[in-house]
Amino acid sequence: MNEVYEKLITCRESVMAKTDFCPEVALILGSGLGNLADEIQIVQTVDYSEIEGFPVSTVAGHKGRFVFGYMEEVPVVIMQGRVHYYEGYPMKDVVLPTRLMGMLGAKKLILTNAAGGINTTYQPGDFMLITDHITTAIPSPLIGENIEELGVRFPDMSEVYSVRMRGIIKEEAKKLSILLREGVYVQLTGPAYETPAEIRMCRSWGGDAVGMSTACEAMAARHMGMEVCGISCITNLAAGMASGKLDHKEVQETADRVAEQFKKLIRAIVRRL
Ligand code: HPA
Repeated sequence: MNEVYEKLITCRESVMAKTDFCPEVALILGSGLGNLADEIQIVQTVDYSEIEGFPVSTVAGHKGRFVFGYMEEVPVVIMQGRVHYYEGYPMKDVVLPTRLMGMLGAKKLILTNAAGGINTTYQPGDFMLITDHITTAIPSPLIGENIEELGVRFPDMSEVYSVRMRGIIKEEAKKLSILLREGVYVQLTGPAYETPAEIRMCRSWGGDAVGMSTACEAMAARHMGMEVCGISCITNLAAGMASGKLDHKEVQETADRVAEQFKKLIRAIVRRL
């Protein structure tokens, strides 16, 4: 059997030894949103460290566990703390949790992140519905022997972010009077923030926001046939667009400032997916 798939099966067994909960929707929470998982009706939590072979997150402020339970009566699994490529894991490990949530039964995936705004009309604190992504500058998580059990060798990526889900998200944002931008997310490896020249490059590619996560997860999820949507919180203007240096504190502060709004939007969406 494919080595990556074998590891996934082992991880699934580790989780299923703790819970037989079957989620419908999977969520991966970015900076500032992590505590949404503490606010659901929790049925079971599973620390990543309890799962055999699981990559464990190292970023301060990122918890490392799956939370199973009900959000707005919908059975969900939440990844509280994601795994980033810049931590040093190979891409196949970075997307392992996403695949695992799919293999535990989740058919739908909601991705969130903090991102730098490339589009000159964006302001820190804005939300951006991800319409598409660019992963050209990172290794594909699908490189290596294909996992036939999950999907095809050459998967179509012409609609990574579900048009159906995007319609629902736009409706719910409007109802909540939340301004929702729409744009293309560019994933780079990090961990350094970009140079101004790199941001100009991303803009010329057609990017509206830049970050260090999400698109690889979306790709792995689409490969295995999950329906995917994503929302970025624009925490800062990207490098070279504002005076001053970029730092993680600014990112965290903006994410925290708009977290309540963001959580409200996520809850409204989950109900309707
Ligand atoms: N660049 C990359 N990742 C980010 C940024 C940024 O400006 N802001 C939040 N995550």
